[in-house]
Amino acid sequence: MGKLDNKVAIITGGASGIGEGMVDLFAKEGAIVIAADINEAALEKASQKENVYGMKLNVASDEDWQALAKEVNERFGKIDILVNNAGISSEKPYAEINAEDWQKMLAINGFGPFAGVKHIAPYMAAQKKGSIVNISSYTAMIGQGFNHYSASKGAVRAMSKAAATTFGRQGVRVNALFPGIIETPMTQALSSSKELLGQLIQATPLQRLGKPEDIAQAALFLASDDSSYITGAELVIDGGFSAQ
Ligand SMILES: NC(=O)c1ccc[n+]([C@@H]2O[C@H](COP(=O)([O-])OP(=O)(O)OC[C@H]3O[C@@H](n4cnc5c(N)ncnc54)[C@H](O)[C@@H]3O)[C@@H](O)[C@H]2O)c1
Repeated sequence: MGKLDNKVAIITGGASGIGEGMVDLFAKEGAIVIAADINEAALEKASQKENVYGMKLNVASDEDWQALAKEVNERFGKIDILVNNAGISSEKPYAEINAEDWQKMLAINGFGPFAGVKHIAPYMAAQKKGSIVNISSYTAMIGQGFNHYSASKGAVRAMSKAAATTFGRQGVRVNALFPGIIETPMTQALSSSKELLGQLIQATPLQRLGKPEDIAQAALFLASDDSSYITGAELVIDGGFSAQ
């Protein structure tokens, strides 16, 4: 028996990296998984997996979210789980970030998860049960110089707690995960420099970078009924980096 048997789960950014890891684990645990992503070519590949349905979504679009929620509910009869994972990153220095950069970052990383909660939580509330997992970042907790990226992840952190209190009485749980540096296409530049990689590993108490599976296992716990009394919680998954 899988931990997510008979559950319908939407995972944004499900076509790559951490999202792809979660799609694979959730499907293995028995869920019907909707991998929602802006990258249509990558979605085609995701759709070939058993019990995985690729659907196009720009998380920054209210209209896209509304259409996705309706389609998933009509096609599969309910929505049990949402993982707000899609995101972009940037290491632009403070002085070079302009209003357009800020707005794009906050539109995708901030408004995206907010709109996900806004459009999906009502379907969960209708069945008095649901679990939402928001992917923030350790950069929302400690200063790492990621600037507008950190700000967008801080927005996810605060919004997760607010949403947990807003929707808790309707049976909808909202929790947040805070990954450290995880080996995905997003961090390829970091891990392809041998020297930098060595420094990062050295600086991490558990002496390695994270893998998509490390985040997927934590997301599985928060998505499943194993965590049925947990809402508004924050879990850091960074090999101890930010504990120092
Ligand atoms: N990799 C890390 O070290 C790390 C650390 C902390 C937090 N995170 C967060 O984890 C999440 C996943 O990151 P990843 O490393 O797997 O990155 P990734 O680049 O491998 O995957 C991101 C996915 O999001 C999709 N996406 C981007 N913009 C979108 C949009 N507007 N609408 C829908 N989909 C969109 C991309 O197409 C891609 O499939 C992100 O929110 C990221 O900020 C990553």
